[in-house]
Amino acid sequence: MDDKTNPQSPSSFNRRSFLAGAAGGAMFPLAARAAGPTTTTIPSTQDPTLPVPVTLRVNGHDNSLNIDARTTVLDALREHIGLTGSKKGCDHGQCGACTVLIEGRRVLSCLTLALSAQDHEITTIEGLSNGVRLHPMQQAFIDQDAFQCGYCTPGQIMSAIACVKEGHANSDEDIREYMSGNICRCAAYPNIVAAVKQAAPEILSG
Ligand code: FES
Ligand code: FES
Repeated sequence: MDDKTNPQSPSSFNRRSFLAGAAGGAMFPLAARAAGPTTTTIPSTQDPTLPVPVTLRVNGHDNSLNIDARTTVLDALREHIGLTGSKKGCDHGQCGACTVLIEGRRVLSCLTLALSAQDHEITTIEGLSNGVRLHPMQQAFIDQDAFQCGYCTPGQIMSAIACVKEGHANSDEDIREYMSGNICRCAAYPNIVAAVKQAAPEILSG
């Protein structure tokens, strides 16, 4: 009877023989592909850090980039496109400072891969004004003094626009609940609620 624990045994199967077999098996398919008539192109490298091409449509303009596949929308906006209005507060989906709209829906850009945003319309704080007139929500934040340091404000405004369009600006409680993902360390919350209430009718009628 074969002793399967004896490395000298002809049918022994231990860790060393398994690894040797696995290595041989891994090489074989490559050799077979190289010899066969297939036309499949084998990537020259699998290095995930190599740049990949991506086109992001931001505020109506296409931006062609070559970026690390792990780049977030926030970093693509700030570091590659030069739109620094969207802020990086926590970079962990906790504060809302990075909120942008993708196809009109509010999204935390620090948690969204740029590759997944291809072929979608991204709107940032820079895209709200038409260059002559502020967006009603921007104007309302000014009128209601809805910020102090202003760091959270771009995210607050983007989120507030979506909050109104979602139909969640019908009461102070509603606004507070549906704006609760946007943190303001300056605690301008009462003024933010007032701004959302001011802008809502104009946004909904526009
Ligand atoms: Fe995205 Fe804080 S920076 S949630
Ligand atoms: Fe300062 Fe909101 S205005 S964090």
